[in-house]
Amino acid sequence: MDASGRVRWGVIGTANIARGQFLPALRQADGVAAAVAGRDPARTQQYARDNEIERAVTGYENLIADPAVDVLYVALPNALHAEWTIRALEAGKPVLCEKPLCGRLSDTESVLAVAEETGTLLWEAFVFPFQPQMQEIRKLLADGAIGDLMEIKSGFHFLLSNPANIRLSTELEGGALLDVGCYPVRIAQELFGTDHEGAWAHAVIGGDGVDVDTWGVLDYAHGRRLMLSCGFGRSYDTFTTLEGPAGQIRITNPFHPGRGDLYQLVTPRADDLTFSAHAEERSFTAAIRHIQAVIKGNEAPRQLAVETSLATARALTNLALSFSRPAGPGPGRS
Ligand SMILES: NC(=O)c1ccc[n+]([C@@H]2O[C@H](COP(=O)([O-])OP(=O)(O)OC[C@H]3O[C@@H](n4cnc5c(N)ncnc54)[C@H](OP(=O)(O)O)[C@@H]3O)[C@@H](O)[C@H]2O)c1
Repeated sequence: MDASGRVRWGVIGTANIARGQFLPALRQADGVAAAVAGRDPARTQQYARDNEIERAVTGYENLIADPAVDVLYVALPNALHAEWTIRALEAGKPVLCEKPLCGRLSDTESVLAVAEETGTLLWEAFVFPFQPQMQEIRKLLADGAIGDLMEIKSGFHFLLSNPANIRLSTELEGGALLDVGCYPVRIAQELFGTDHEGAWAHAVIGGDGVDVDTWGVLDYAHGRRLMLSCGFGRSYDTFTTLEGPAGQIRITNPFHPGRGDLYQLVTPRADDLTFSAHAEERSFTAAIRHIQAVIKGNEAPRQLAVETSLATARALTNLALSFSRPAGPGPGRS
């Protein structure tokens, strides 16, 4: 930590997600943007200047070895998460790794094994469970507002137009299911538990062979289910509905709520109730604040990857294994 007790973060990769979301949230959470590592010195220096990061480092390994960094944020394409997260954990550096933790189940298992063996803290960057909205929705469910939760309908779509985007590359482990379908899968895990019973999905293929428009079902015990839809061909949409025998909770954005977002309790026996998403802070801020509190010894860790990420990876793998691959149009290099 720095002289005033603030946690010093290192960012691995000059990524858009770090620029657009992580770094502004880090400032809100009073963390230090100590260094960024990239492959190209000039680009990394420019990125550090543009984003008010104290130092630019060439080579990810040099940032991992840097004694003036307390925790690392891995913001690389999915195919590189395993290698660099393992290296960081083996060096004893806590890691917040971007989602999905890995594109392949075997890599997920390897990363989690290293986290277990080393005891080094690792989080997968699903930040929504830390947010007030999710905690309020959990309370509504626990209070029986809609009865037993039976069905989740959840989607994550956005428009992807750049054919060079990492999400359209099989080599970099892109694809809509891994990139955004992981969110519906994760909310189902949060609300139904870790053990799904069956998986079915269908996908339109685009890019250089990745799924670009994907829909499917994850089954849980007693007929509970997630109906998911995700892709790169529609304007931004994360609408999610939680359904029970006594009503519904409709959420405009459960994953990255902004100021205009809300959730609504709809029941036949009462007037609809509408609540603000309470998204006064940036989406990543609560998660970063928690990680810093854990590093300072002020909070017990929650949502560690060793407790959560294997179930997500298994569900994503089983959905992907069931793809039938019709020829079809998709954005990008199809
Ligand atoms: N949690 C969220 O809300 C959220 C949102 C968006 C994305 N993400 C995740 O964040 C990660 C990064 O996504 P992004 O959209 O920010 O990616 P991006 O802008 O394309 O950045 C990825 C960075 O990785 C580095 N890199 C290393 N090898 C590369 C290669 N072969 N091709 C391309 N880049 C390479 C590059 O930095 P250098 O060359 O400087 O090393 C690049 O700037 C992904 O895992 C994605 O799923 C999460």
